[in-house]
Amino acid sequence: MNNFDFKNPTKIIFGKDTIEKVKEEIPQDAKVLLLYGGGSIKKNGIYDQVKTALANVEVVEFGGIPANPEYSVLIEALKVIKDQNITYLLAVGGGSVIDGTKFLSAAALFDGDTPWDILTKNIRTEKGMPFGTVLTLPATGSEMNSGAVITRAETKEKLAMGGPGLFPEFSILDPQVITSIPQRQLANGLTDAFTHVLEQYMTYPIGAILQDRFAESILQTLVEVAPTVIKDPTDYKAASNFMWSCTMALNGLIQKGVPGDWAVHAIGHELTALFGIDHARTLAVIAPSHYKFNFEDKKEKLAQYGERVWNITEGSIDDKAYAAIEKTVDFFHELGIDTKLSDYTKDYEGTAEEISKRFTDRGWTGLGEHQTLSPDKVEKIVKMAY
Ligand code: NZQ
Ligand code: ZN
Repeated sequence: MNNFDFKNPTKIIFGKDTIEKVKEEIPQDAKVLLLYGGGSIKKNGIYDQVKTALANVEVVEFGGIPANPEYSVLIEALKVIKDQNITYLLAVGGGSVIDGTKFLSAAALFDGDTPWDILTKNIRTEKGMPFGTVLTLPATGSEMNSGAVITRAETKEKLAMGGPGLFPEFSILDPQVITSIPQRQLANGLTDAFTHVLEQYMTYPIGAILQDRFAESILQTLVEVAPTVIKDPTDYKAASNFMWSCTMALNGLIQKGVPGDWAVHAIGHELTALFGIDHARTLAVIAPSHYKFNFEDKKEKLAQYGERVWNITEGSIDDKAYAAIEKTVDFFHELGIDTKLSDYTKDYEGTAEEISKRFTDRGWTGLGEHQTLSPDKVEKIVKMAY
């Protein structure tokens, strides 16, 4: 196992009817900016619950943060923060609203030329404006980590940012919120969380027995609850296990002491930036090709995953590893998630070259757990995913 530091300061408030507890977490003298997305919270009652809880606090609102939070919209919110002397941010939404809020937390205290530099110059945020979240969509884990991904439509870019100053102070996780989530987003959430675990697990053995078991247990739980989550989101047992699995998949715990990959996400973000494909679906497109292309490097962990998560007991390491990739593809298909780029766009020709060029231009010459995945290899993986 590798050496590691581990600190996660986010307070989690988990369970039925917990949204009202938001009032206990926000300082009474704060001037709060309540941030939300396209309006789902107004239809499903979450907005009313938050507003009731914050009746005695000064609250300004900013709605309209789109899926794949858009830089130009966030710059409007930044103006509100400055003009109205906001002191605390509250994200009520899924990964997009929470990530947008993290950007604002960083940008509000940033004194460089333009906040876009935070993304292009990899400026880590040591201290941001304090914020909390009310999670409405289990998927990204953003509610308990310090990363964010921001999109800029003007340049078709989607870039990551983060830093120790960007953990939410608190996150409220009421699994009942999933009852209003459309099936497509439920399937996305399951796929995103599943792939988060794979990014931190599907590398090479390093003797981290406990982390492997943590990772496998999250995968097994997602596989077990997925059919019920999709069929009946009012099933609280499934909903609560789904929500907690998504948080645990990307709150830092399972990545400690082990190598990480994250090439699937890096490539996937480009597919969202270029074609607007939902984040989770880009992962389902790239992951199978990535694992096939890097088969020799990853086959031991692939086989272990096949044995422990999919009960594949027959055959050699190679056989089990290959069957595990097939099982993963089947799982995505059962969720209604297509796994080829051509399922999403007819204009896929040239995509591999474009992504390879972007990675070269950014100096991303060695992705993956061995830092050996060069742009020419990325190009081959994307072509395999057509
Ligand atoms: O905008 P509204 O109207 O709220 O509707 C949203 C949105 O259309 C809807 N929704 C959310 N909660 C709902 C609901 N509809 C009904 N009932 C509810 N309770 O769902 C749609 C998608 O929301 P979004 O927040 O975009 O989804 P998700 O949570 O999957 O977030 C995706 C974003 O997170 C980034 C992705 O790249 C993408 O931009 N990620 C963030 C990560 C992180 N910070 O750690 C890691 C991930 O790998 C990912 O990259
Ligand atoms: Zn993801």
